[in-house]
Amino acid sequence: MRGQIMTRKVLLVGDGAVGSTFANDLLQNCDVKELIICDVAKQRPVGDSMDLEDITPFMGQTDIHPGEYSDAKDADVCVITAGVPRKPGETRLDLVAKNVKILKSIVKPVVDSGFHGIFVVSANPVDILTTLTQKLSGFPKNKVIGTGSSLDSMRLRVELAKKVGVPVAKVNSMVLGEHGDTSFENFDESTINGKPLKSYDELSDDVLAQVETDIRKKGGKIIANKGATFYGVAMMLTQIVSAILDNRSIVLPLSAPVKGKYGINHELYLGTPAAIDGSGISYVIETELSDDEKKKMLNSADKMQEVLNTVDL
Ligand code: 2OP
Repeated sequence: MRGQIMTRKVLLVGDGAVGSTFANDLLQNCDVKELIICDVAKQRPVGDSMDLEDITPFMGQTDIHPGEYSDAKDADVCVITAGVPRKPGETRLDLVAKNVKILKSIVKPVVDSGFHGIFVVSANPVDILTTLTQKLSGFPKNKVIGTGSSLDSMRLRVELAKKVGVPVAKVNSMVLGEHGDTSFENFDESTINGKPLKSYDELSDDVLAQVETDIRKKGGKIIANKGATFYGVAMMLTQIVSAILDNRSIVLPLSAPVKGKYGINHELYLGTPAAIDGSGISYVIETELSDDEKKKMLNSADKMQEVLNTVDL
């Protein structure tokens, strides 16, 4: 997108809890010229467009309306939230078969529309679906981005900040690998207020092991209590899409192409820090990991590849 005149037009595919929350967040954080909302439930985008336009007097003027995949043709970004959400007790990988089928029904018509912008994916399992969005679209790898472990990393920073009693901004720690059960934290390199995380007495190995478990299970716990999660992932989508539209360079742990990084040979997307801007992923950062963390990253990549091997595109 760098240098390319942007339309500031966003196509949102999936107007469920995540999609609708994202639309509301984006309009309140970013100057969007046109927001087109697609959903298989045709009435939802009609109602949501009408509801969302009622906030525009306080925001930038945005043309918000229901639409079709063919409207993607001159959009800067296509956001894919569409997919069956997890039920209590389900893992994200339990959704593979159903959500790959939905993804295939989306990507081809969007590409056939002449879309040449950037795909941003949050539907789960997000690393699998981001990898498949790139394979199905044939887009350059830097033009496909997944929310990946950005949400987990925000959850981790909030939890560590509470345990140590500091503002979240002072916590520099990430969740990496799969947005799911093989995720891990880079505790060996993390810092809080510029000091090594492991120098904090409050953060013993046992406490950190519990934090790792709690973060990994937080999405499921939210679902068990309120039926779905949407505020956190919608905010991550907003951070990503507004950085693209504003051509503002930010670094987040995202689902990004990792082949050739961390000793990974698989052609897939996985949670790693990456810089994004108007061009999509401007570079993937192979962050420093301890030997133990490198093993966890490779394990996560192998697990994702095992799942990808079961998918028949
Ligand atoms: C979560 O963990 C939606 O997978 C996402 O909340």
